[in-house]
Amino acid sequence: MSQWTPICRVEDIPVLGSRRVARPQGVDVAVFRNDQDQVFALLDRCPHKGGPLSQGIVFGTSVACPLHNWTIGLEDGSAKSPDEGCTPRFSVLVSDGVVHLDSAELASLGLGLERPVAGPVRRALVVAD
Ligand code: FES
Repeated sequence: MSQWTPICRVEDIPVLGSRRVARPQGVDVAVFRNDQDQVFALLDRCPHKGGPLSQGIVFGTSVACPLHNWTIGLEDGSAKSPDEGCTPRFSVLVSDGVVHLDSAELASLGLGLERPVAGPVRRALVVAD
């Protein structure tokens, strides 16, 4: 039986927008609300190159990634064809207007994935003697 962690009220999420839920470790979780007041939760990391899906545009049951405009399904985290890939999806329970996420999933899903990278990455140049 699932244990649920309360996150916020549905109305705390902007219509056609999202909120980010920080975790003690791992990438944040993006919680989305569409124009039908349906709530979805995905890892805040596009399966393409790690773009922050929480900053994307929500339409229907999808979100358009802000970096390269891939369309990601909010119900399953899958990229829409012809693109391929999937970001972890989190179970959502809405009870009396309060959004809950599955506690075990919050503690385990996507922990091995890196945070999205914003802007160019500068790597140190290592010169061997
Ligand atoms: S990182 Fe999302 S479409 Fe490229």
